[in-house]
Amino acid sequence: MGMLEDRVANRRTFAIIAHPDAGKTTLTEKLLLFGGAIQLAGAVKTRGEQRRARSDWMKVERERGISVASSVMTFDYREKTFNLLDTPGHEDFSEDTYRTLTAVDSAVMVLDGAKGIESQTRKLFEVCRLRDMPITTFINKFDREAQDPFDLLDDIEQTLALDVVPASWPIGMGRNFLGCYDLFNDRLVLVSKGKNNHMDEGITCNGLEDPQLDELLPADAVEKLREDIDMVRGLCPEFEVDAFLEGTMTPVYFGSAINNFGVETLLNGLTETAPSPRFAPSADRNISPLEPKVSGFIFKIQANMDPKHRDRIAFMRLVSGHFKRGAKLKHIRSEKTMNIHNPVLFLAQDRELAEEAWPGDIIGIPNHGNLRIGDALTEGEAIRFTGIPSFAPELLQKVRPVDPMRAKHLGRALVQLAEEGAARTFKTRMGSDWVVGVVGGLQFEVLADRIRTEYDIPVNFEQTELFTARWVEHDDPRELKKFTDANQASLAEDHDEAPVFLARNSWHLERAEKDWPNIKFLKTKEQS
Ligand code: G4P
Repeated sequence: MGMLEDRVANRRTFAIIAHPDAGKTTLTEKLLLFGGAIQLAGAVKTRGEQRRARSDWMKVERERGISVASSVMTFDYREKTFNLLDTPGHEDFSEDTYRTLTAVDSAVMVLDGAKGIESQTRKLFEVCRLRDMPITTFINKFDREAQDPFDLLDDIEQTLALDVVPASWPIGMGRNFLGCYDLFNDRLVLVSKGKNNHMDEGITCNGLEDPQLDELLPADAVEKLREDIDMVRGLCPEFEVDAFLEGTMTPVYFGSAINNFGVETLLNGLTETAPSPRFAPSADRNISPLEPKVSGFIFKIQANMDPKHRDRIAFMRLVSGHFKRGAKLKHIRSEKTMNIHNPVLFLAQDRELAEEAWPGDIIGIPNHGNLRIGDALTEGEAIRFTGIPSFAPELLQKVRPVDPMRAKHLGRALVQLAEEGAARTFKTRMGSDWVVGVVGGLQFEVLADRIRTEYDIPVNFEQTELFTARWVEHDDPRELKKFTDANQASLAEDHDEAPVFLARNSWHLERAEKDWPNIKFLKTKEQS
């Protein structure tokens, strides 16, 4: 096997999806701990309540501070290199999460054993489904009273229309949680008391009739385990790798992340079954990770924390080829060549500047705003990667500088923020007001703060009567002009000067659509 094949086969790039509080942060820490990146564990984020006790927006600020560092966490485990991409926890930042999901090959879905599928789990899952993404499920918090495991499986199956196959099976729960039976490897893994930060040591069994089980577990627990597994085998299909890779079947693990329990079984499972870097869809063809020429796409832009420098880091998912530091890559949108001489490579555990990267890896590229979400960098071929979502803004507010003399500066700041993907910004044709559109309300607060700290422009956001925004298009520019001329009062331009219709209410939008049947009213615009 060549070097490229080998590296690709051993890469696992994934994200964790979860409803807030299910245990994503805790699981992340434990994965890093077992992956040997111990220096990072514990520094991932403030957890749960502690985090939520502060005002929401302080939390966001904190997360932003550490998010470059913890955006991509790389660790090695059993000769595989894992790239774990972090996703923001708060629902208002789901846009970032959705885009991050375009850069991974699979996801681990964490559920709280007492709660099952929750609203945010479902939303995130839907995004994964759009991409047929393989999902591995981890049902957490079995050290507490949880729902019956059969009910949990049923919940996943019914709510997400996904075939479920238990990979491990819990023995008891809450105070009586004794451990799990690893169904894929016939191992009994018991909760060891007081041995934090150690991996579970499993005991290999010769099937469920192995007398070791009777020795190690109380009689009623063994009996229940045998009964349960009998039922599991009767009710659930066999695990099929292909169905998993197509995203229609999920292996389910049980555990208690906080007690390190079940994490090793999960990691072993990911090592064996999680996919290596997949083909990436582009306008013309699917790009194989094994293509020797380097290509990649930008899925996230992170503003630098130093307010004096407006540098940004663009996160590129390497799609194909062997990237070396100093590579000259063509930026397809501008057709300019970029010399990637100081990439931030997250590969090295100690974050030293690494010299190379492979498909599935993430490279951080410092730049001054020329890179945008959705952009492709290649060795020359004009590839246009598809499927990187842009969302219709659902909340629209006007923004004004406290000092009216700073209006021009504000305009420049807003264009930059829009290019970065932090918000949609529109300038109204009449009155030249700036309108900002976001998906989650908290984004306004973050924007106000960023405009103040990074651009030194104190601003106020004001409610508007606006209901939604639609990009308007027509193949014939004259027809489009007719429409825009007739609707001046509701027209604005986005940061790329594309015309946008701002509707006051749903009736206003419906009316415009009816009156102008040949105009396309688009909810989103491809990232360009
Ligand atoms: P999130 O990132 O998905 O929001 O969840 P996070 O890991 O922050 O966990 C949310 C809460 O659940 C935390 O408690 C955490 O300690 C707890 N937790 C995580 N895994 C388990 C588990 O396996 N069993 C139990 N019983 N609890 C678990 P908190 O009180 O909100 O925060 P903290 O004070 O413990 O930091």
